[in-house]
Amino acid sequence: MPGYLVDDTRKVTTHRLKEMKEQGKKIAMLTSYDYTTAKIVDEAGVDIILVGDSASNVMAGNHTTLPITLDQMIYHARSVVRGVKRALVVCDMPFGTYQVNPVEGVRNAIRIMQETGCDAVKLEGGVEILDTIRKILDAGIPVMGHLGLTPQSINKFGTYAVRAREEAEAARLLSDAAALADAGCFGIVLEKIPATLTQKVVESVDVPIIGIGGGPADGQVLVIDDMLGKNKDFSPKFLRRYADLHTVMLDAIGQYVTDVKSCDFPNEQEQY
Ligand code: KIV
Repeated sequence: MPGYLVDDTRKVTTHRLKEMKEQGKKIAMLTSYDYTTAKIVDEAGVDIILVGDSASNVMAGNHTTLPITLDQMIYHARSVVRGVKRALVVCDMPFGTYQVNPVEGVRNAIRIMQETGCDAVKLEGGVEILDTIRKILDAGIPVMGHLGLTPQSINKFGTYAVRAREEAEAARLLSDAAALADAGCFGIVLEKIPATLTQKVVESVDVPIIGIGGGPADGQVLVIDDMLGKNKDFSPKFLRRYADLHTVMLDAIGQYVTDVKSCDFPNEQEQY
């Protein structure tokens, strides 16, 4: 059954996501950055729409997620929210908006909620940002965690390679996940870690674990531009391409150029 035939049209809540984990129902999550795309993603039955700071890469063409600003994330999230009826909308807190101290973190999370109308925020990190996460939760804002490969720390890691292959890092990730779940995060994204470790986290915490390059979990997330094949330059092992929009768009736009230059467009039916 195609996803867009999902019979439950009620708005997805953090509570329902927890029930889905308990019932063994998988959670589909995808990024979106604009109104038109979010409307399609929502209609297709995606449960969580992430306004990811990957907008920095795929929308703005930056090499990392670091340059995107709070104002830019708010612009993207507000556009997405306008297109969504059913999915839970999560907005990434961009680099620099929650690392300084908990007060600044909660203030910026409040701005995101107030100015976008989204349902939750996502932050990268474990115990080192736990005080900030608690403060944001205390303000009544649902928080999603993000562990494993955390792209905002790329300058510390120096590489986008698989994380937590070593025992010590794997143990730290397990205790970080437990701390985030205990603090009250409604879900955790695990990025690019061994599948065996993902499985351990799935079994050890009672909140939904959403994987990207981490093997089977309670749900999966992908960057929409990557899974639709808009960008041919990014081909990690974990990425499944569901379309070849690069070719579709190139052919369509090429045809348009040809039609304009040959005076085929506009024809008599396409004018007033
Ligand atoms: O910004 C993003 O798109 C993300 C996903 C990769 C999980 O954080």
